[in-house]
Amino acid sequence: MVFLVDDFFKDKAFASRIPLESKDEIIWVNVDDEPKTKIVDQIRDQINENNKSLPAAVIGIGGGSVMDYAKAVSVMLTNPGSSSLYQGLNLAKNPGIYHIGIPTLSGTGAEVSMTAVLTGPEKKLGIKGESTPFDQIVLDPELIYDAPKNQRFYTGMDAYIHNIESLEGTARNCMSDSFATQSLALCRDVFLNDRLSREEADEKLMIASYFGGLSIGYSEVGVCHALSYGLSFVLGLHHGIANSIAFNHLEDVYGKAVQEFHRMVEKNKIDLPQNISKGLSAGQIEKMADIAIKLEHMWKHAFGPEWQKQVNKEKILNWYLRM
Ligand SMILES: NC(=O)c1ccc[n+]([C@@H]2O[C@H](COP(=O)([O-])OP(=O)(O)OC[C@H]3O[C@@H](n4cnc5c(N)ncnc54)[C@H](O)[C@@H]3O)[C@@H](O)[C@H]2O)c1
Ligand SMILES: [Fe+2]
Repeated sequence: MVFLVDDFFKDKAFASRIPLESKDEIIWVNVDDEPKTKIVDQIRDQINENNKSLPAAVIGIGGGSVMDYAKAVSVMLTNPGSSSLYQGLNLAKNPGIYHIGIPTLSGTGAEVSMTAVLTGPEKKLGIKGESTPFDQIVLDPELIYDAPKNQRFYTGMDAYIHNIESLEGTARNCMSDSFATQSLALCRDVFLNDRLSREEADEKLMIASYFGGLSIGYSEVGVCHALSYGLSFVLGLHHGIANSIAFNHLEDVYGKAVQEFHRMVEKNKIDLPQNISKGLSAGQIEKMADIAIKLEHMWKHAFGPEWQKQVNKEKILNWYLRM
């Protein structure tokens, strides 16, 4: 077994609970930056150098970033060349090796999604295909108990926003609506109901993430995610905080949901970065808008096939200037 574990846990008691047997190994993964194709290739090469045969399984333990590393490494152990060659849909010909996901943050839905989001030399795009999803996942709410308040919130909001975007777009359907509605109820309980114990809330948050991820799998993300990709690409912000910064200013698109988001921020006493566009150059904001506008499938979901009548680069620039 190869355990890919978030290096946040390196000196924590949790590390000693990983039941290593003779040939098993732990590879500590740093996620200060979101997953890169270069690092996927390095991890794959390291596993091959240390072992004569393929491992029986890759087990990812960490937040969404480690979930994606584990999925990508599994695929890259059986497909030649750099992982940057496989960013796209169904480009890997050989099925990956058995892989297991054990999340330690909840919200991204990466534990259940079909994609491993990677930044390569040319693009930020997932390796997506039949064999990318985990063969098995373990959802243990104890593992998210120690997550810092702000991080827990930002990642949790990814699930909340997945649901809102899934429900408010043209690709919605009975399946995606059903998962999103249930996940949304759980998110509201977690972030607005103070009668819940932390243990009850963590359990609900894990399932909210899982259902939110399923909802998106059958539908699509929308305006907030398109803007958030631009923020992450140019500023290196992680997905959850980038989503939160963008959603905070999208009342003209997602109305009451944004008002509810403001209540959640206030109730949970969350530090949300403000006025980030003030410190940016015109070139940086342009670049963000260029990245965002290319995400056609998201705009199409949010505004329909004639989305270009409602959204142009200027409108996108204006959204960024509000943040
Ligand atoms: N594949 C998908 O479908 C999908 C969907 C959404 C997001 N993503 C990806 O997920 C990533 C974001 O994931 P995330 O929000 O879970 O955060 P993350 O994995 O990027 O981790 C954020 C920080 O929290 C730390 N951390 C992790 N678990 C912790 C714990 N229990 N206690 C304390 N700290 C902990 C990490 O070390 C890191 O510093 C991005 O790379 C994004 O691209 C993937
Ligand atoms: Fe997301």
